[in-house]
Amino acid sequence: MDAEEVAAAAEVLRSGGLVAFPTETVYGLGAAAARPEAVARIFAVKGRPADHPVIVHLPSARHLERWTADVPEAAHQLAEACWPGPLTMVLGRASWVPAAVTGGRPTIAVRVPAHPVALELLELFGDGVAAPSANRFGRVSPTTAAHVRADLGDEVDLVLEGGPSQVGVESTIVDLSGGRPEVLRLGSITPARLEEVLGAPVPVWQGQRGVAAPGTLVAHYAPHARVELVGAAEVVARATVLRQQGRQVAVLAPDRYPDLAGEVVQLGPMGSSADYARGLYERLRRADEVGAEVVLAVPPPDEGVGAAVADRLRRAAASTR
Ligand code: TXA
Ligand code: MG
Repeated sequence: MDAEEVAAAAEVLRSGGLVAFPTETVYGLGAAAARPEAVARIFAVKGRPADHPVIVHLPSARHLERWTADVPEAAHQLAEACWPGPLTMVLGRASWVPAAVTGGRPTIAVRVPAHPVALELLELFGDGVAAPSANRFGRVSPTTAAHVRADLGDEVDLVLEGGPSQVGVESTIVDLSGGRPEVLRLGSITPARLEEVLGAPVPVWQGQRGVAAPGTLVAHYAPHARVELVGAAEVVARATVLRQQGRQVAVLAPDRYPDLAGEVVQLGPMGSSADYARGLYERLRRADEVGAEVVLAVPPPDEGVGAAVADRLRRAAASTR
């Protein structure tokens, strides 16, 4: 890690600028969360609707007191067990927190990321950093500094390098602001793990008709290519049909298909659920680079982070239909 770069980045945050930084999940586009005009720049650069709340990244759980209110014991237990790590908690917000951060909600989303560069930046800066994923709104999240530069280029004051993100999909979001905990977004920390820590059931939010759930927009996480979900046994037949229609086809799957014709681009094998998650967004970007019109995606096994990968693939499929 380049200590001078990180110090320069903390200075950029202090002066109200934008810093893209690595986390273990995906790269974030950060601004001083206490400064509404700095947070507003995030929204401008991302092209993100202003009522969409952002996650505040904290140096440690000790900073919860400044940003949150009415923190239940369950939140302290989860912080103890999972931070630093890919878990975001939605909690009551402190009354002073800018509406730019919360999208005008009475709640705030907070997390302590597990990446040495992110932690160094947060500690040097010493306060909350508002950061959505560092991609344009509705597109695939970046898992390398190069992805950030390709998406946002000169519009960011500084991009910190931190290698490829090790988890590869966005953090699990658990809402602890109501009576009982509820998972709003799947990630590598599974509902089963949360239940184990809390010793109580933690359901996954299933959606309500007519309510645009925060963090659960269906049209999201999409490449330009159309994404089609298929079973492992259907890949070869479906790819063949699409080829006969003259379509450029890419396959994203845990395994390789030796029988597939050479003109079908195989983006995998993606391997285990964890490997699949780590490579997911890079492969969706590559699908666009190779000019694929259709990505045939076979979700990974439903274990560990596999459910989160399947969730992102479903969203990608829904928004590119
Ligand atoms: O892994 C991650 O969480 C990455 C890295 C950079 O930390 N960040 C990320 O941010 O994915 P973003 O903005 O792309 O997604 C944050 C999600 C949004 O979908 C938002 O709706 C939800 O968190 N969120 C933020 N504040 C919330 C709140 N007060 N209540 C409910 N959901 C909230
Ligand atoms: Mg995002």
